[in-house]
Parts: sequence; C-alpha cells; structure tokens
Amino acid sequence: MSNVIILGSSRDNGNTAGLANHLATTINAEIVNLNNYRILPYDYAHKNQEDDFSGLIDHLITYKRLIFASPIYWYSPSATMKLFIDRLCDLTEIDKTRGRNLRLKSAAVISTGAAVEVDSCFEQIFRKTFDYFSIKYDGMLYCQCEDDYVKTHHNKAVDLFATQFRSGNDMRDVESRMMLENN
Ligand SMILES: Cc1cc2nc3c(=O)[nH]c(=O)nc-3n(C[C@H](O)[C@H](O)[C@H](O)COP(=O)(O)O)c2cc1C
Repeated sequence: MSNVIILGSSRDNGNTAGLANHLATTINAEIVNLNNYRILPYDYAHKNQEDDFSGLIDHLITYKRLIFASPIYWYSPSATMKLFIDRLCDLTEIDKTRGRNLRLKSAAVISTGAAVEVDSCFEQIFRKTFDYFSIKYDGMLYCQCEDDYVKTHHNKAVDLFATQFRSGNDMRDVESRMMLENN
C-alpha cells in the first residue's frame, strides 16, 4: 500500500471515521487512528520523546501519499489532529533528516462537518503546513453530515475523489463539486 489515512477524531466510529473507512476501501489505503497512539503536546525542551510520535513517523514515512482526516471542530481541525500537526515541529528541530523526507510526499485532506460549506480557514491550516514542509498538496474532500455519516449519500463524491486521487490529478475542485451533489 502506498496510501495512508491519518485519522484524528474524538470518535473512533464517528462521521470522519466513516468517511475514512469508505475512502480506504475505495483507494486501498491503510488507516492510522491517532487515538491508538500516545502523542504528547509539543514541548520546546523535547521532553516528550518517550511517547509514540517518533515511531509513528517511522511508519508514516513508508507511505508515498498521506491523507489527513479530521472533523471540523470550531472551524479548525480536531485537537487530536492538531497535537499531531504541532509535533511535526520535531521534524524541523531534532529530526531534520526525516523532516526532509516529507518533501517526497504528497498529501490530501478529508473532512466532515455539519455546515454546508467549509470555512477556508480549515483547509488553510493544512495547506500552509504542507507548503512549509514542501509536501505537494492534492486537495480536499469535504462531506457534510447532518447526522450520522451515510455511505450512500457520499458515494459519488468519494468515487470522484478516488478517481482523481488515483490519476494523480489536481483535486482542488472536488470539494465544491461534491457540495453541489449534496444539495
Ligand atoms: C466540538 C465540536 C465543534 C464543532 N464545530 C463545527 C464547526 O465549526 N463547523 C461545522 O461544520 N461542524 C462543526 N461540528 C460538527 C462536526 O464537525 C460534525 O458533526 C462531524 O461530522 C463530526 O465528526 P466526528 O464524528 O468524526 O467527530 C462540531 C462538532 C463538535 C463536537
């Protein structure tokens, strides 16, 4: 497998997990659930190195394409995902070799939320972070979930995203097309 979905949600079986599972079967990706790892907050003194972050990075850099999966919580990625993103600082400070390795990767974002439209600030957090690490950004898939994630509601959007993803084409307009289909 060359694709991994990094899932960061407060619910292991919630909407974002539903979307991640749906996409994983469609594009053949592994899911890494951040809830299964102990990731401590960023520490300027790096006194957190006994946690699971470094081992998790060892695993993640074996994949070519990374897909960050997060719900929208208050216009932002989940705290679970943000802890992980903050710790990427380690790769610029004490683990630069593996940080440089990220330049060879591409990354996409998948998300669920209650709102019809995603506020641009959500995507910007990922886009700018990928830019910082010179990771190629492949775009975002957003699925509006009024209640539970219902696979059949999002089949078309996931299939479209998967097709673009497989072809390696730019997927930055998939999100808006998807929202039209849902409405
Ligand atoms: C703390 C919290 C904050 C939320 N903030 C937003 C928000 O800003 N925008 C939005 O569209 N949905 C928001 N929602 C709704 C969730 O994004 C939505 O229900 C999502 O599908 C939940 O995914 P999950 O099951 O993986 O947690 C929020 C939900 C919670 C629990």
